[in-house]
Amino acid sequence: MANAAVPEVMVDSRPFLEPKGLQCTHQGKVRDTYDLGNRTLLIVATDRISTFDSVHPNGIPGKGGVLNEMSTFWLTHPLIGRICQTHYLRPVLEWGIPAGKRVVKCPEIATRAMIVRRAKPLPVECIVRGYITGSLYAEYKEKGGSERGVIIAGNPYQAGWKDSDRLPRPVFTPTTKTQVGHDQNLTKEEFLSVLDKDQNAAAVLLEVSMAIYDMAAEYALRRGVIIADAKFEFGIDEETREVILIDEVLTPDSSRFWDLNDYEPGRPQRAMDKQYVRDWGIKSGWNREPPAPKLPAEVVAETAARYQEIKKRLID
Ligand SMILES: Nc1ncnc2c1ncn2[C@@H]1O[C@H](COP(=O)(O)OP(=O)(O)O)[C@@H](O)[C@H]1O
Ligand SMILES: [Mg+2]
Repeated sequence: MANAAVPEVMVDSRPFLEPKGLQCTHQGKVRDTYDLGNRTLLIVATDRISTFDSVHPNGIPGKGGVLNEMSTFWLTHPLIGRICQTHYLRPVLEWGIPAGKRVVKCPEIATRAMIVRRAKPLPVECIVRGYITGSLYAEYKEKGGSERGVIIAGNPYQAGWKDSDRLPRPVFTPTTKTQVGHDQNLTKEEFLSVLDKDQNAAAVLLEVSMAIYDMAAEYALRRGVIIADAKFEFGIDEETREVILIDEVLTPDSSRFWDLNDYEPGRPQRAMDKQYVRDWGIKSGWNREPPAPKLPAEVVAETAARYQEIKKRLID
């Protein structure tokens, strides 16, 4: 089935489906989506990995399975059920996927795919941060936060935070979700205008994102894991018109996970998530513009190990 013209990592999902006649309707950086009709989608998490919005030419073995298992865990968790509705419908079973009048057999993707309600994705990434690190810490330092209080995207931050410090309370820092280019921070006013001034949707996104983060952060702490931040996506359910939680949830692609035992503010933490690959990319001298460099074998192996590690610690 391998095809020299197709990058290595593509082999892990599409060829198993397409010969049977399912058409990939959308290829994201990591997930392939197949429209099953009846307002349902099949979402297949591949082993692809992207950093700084570019997909690396090689994948991380087993990553799609980790993303799918972790998202499924959270999307079906009763604690999330108390907070909001989600797009999750059912797992993909080994015997196949009902698609219209047919059943498409694809045991190969059973562990890396789910069937969801199709929604109209809202063009924002809802990020909640409990700790100051990554792009927020970089901007804080650049604006002089070490000496004086600063305002970032409308939120005030007092002076003197160190990298990885815990914030007094989690902050909501939404960004645009752009098809091309990098995501931009949004102020409250910009956030509202990206949502077509829908005050109700804006309030739901903020409240639901904060509530899921709080719930998951508390759950994780009991397992010795810090969730430093998390990104959520929402969509409008095509049938009910309600805002529902879509996409992936609390995975190492969309959250930062740290070990509580090793936690020490004032330095970067050991990341059980994609930050490890971002750090390698920066160290390698990559200018963060496409094309993304090929990951060396040892980086692939270490990333795979860290993804398995966080899955085990959080949900197994
Ligand atoms: N229930 C849903 N209905 C419609 N689109 C969805 C749903 N869940 C996720 N998506 C979209 O599917 C895509 C998932 O693939 P991904 O690789 O994450 O893409 P991206 O490169 O845009 O991040 C995202 O664009 C996401 O917005
Ligand atoms: Mg995505």
